[in-house]
Amino acid sequence: MIRPVSRQWKSRPTIEGAGVHLRRGFGFQDPHLVDPFLLFDDFRNENPEDYRAGFPWHPHRGIETITYVLDGDVEHADSLGHQGVIGAGDVQWMTAGDGILHQEMPRGDRKGRMFGFQLWSNLPRASKRMEPRYREVKAAEIPVVKTASGAVVRVVAGALDGVQGPVRDVMSGPEYLDVRMPPDGTFVHDIPLERTAFAYVFEGEASFGGEPADDGTVVLFGPGTQVRATTAKRPSRFLLVSGTPLREPIAWYGPIVMNTQDELRQAFAELKAGTFAKR
Ligand code: CO
Repeated sequence: MIRPVSRQWKSRPTIEGAGVHLRRGFGFQDPHLVDPFLLFDDFRNENPEDYRAGFPWHPHRGIETITYVLDGDVEHADSLGHQGVIGAGDVQWMTAGDGILHQEMPRGDRKGRMFGFQLWSNLPRASKRMEPRYREVKAAEIPVVKTASGAVVRVVAGALDGVQGPVRDVMSGPEYLDVRMPPDGTFVHDIPLERTAFAYVFEGEASFGGEPADDGTVVLFGPGTQVRATTAKRPSRFLLVSGTPLREPIAWYGPIVMNTQDELRQAFAELKAGTFAKR
């Protein structure tokens, strides 16, 4: 059964961090709508002045983040002692768990361009306070699958045609595909009924279940077992992401996402007392 489009909307200009201009796909409406996901940012920018200030040291608790860079570099450092650069095509994922402090500084490519995505995935109650962890996946480790219908897909997480992506162990078990379609193309992909699924178009135009979506559009799918994308005259590129909903209460303030207001208060009290990140 083909998943219909439940709703679609455009990503919105947002200023985040120390003054980074980006486009927010979601994170501004009821988070249960996209459960287990919380926030999705498209940090595409051609003007270094708009992103150079970056995301200086800040805390996270209760979530996991997946950062996928397409152009430019992001320098990062965290309270676990990691330090490095995520370059074009690389993926970084981080479990904030009990608490992490980190900074992410976009550097752009030689032409000053920066492009990538950050997705926040919620942690289930039982794992909110787990030990933080951090992984980096280089572009070359991400398999590319060419489907019989001509789509070229980078499998970041999950599986396509039996090929498994390198991002594993994220608690919501996300599937994360970067799909490039030629003109007059068709791409059909099974996604189990219980999952929440969305697409984000970032090149050209594609139709999902017959409804067109262009650059910068978030497409949230309704219930079904299969997503069907088609292209007409123009090629297209989009992310296709799904995950298993947690169906738990969400208490969210800024970079910290817990189940109750009490847990939120505790986190901010620890931040004030300087006891937040224990590792
Ligand atoms: Co952060």
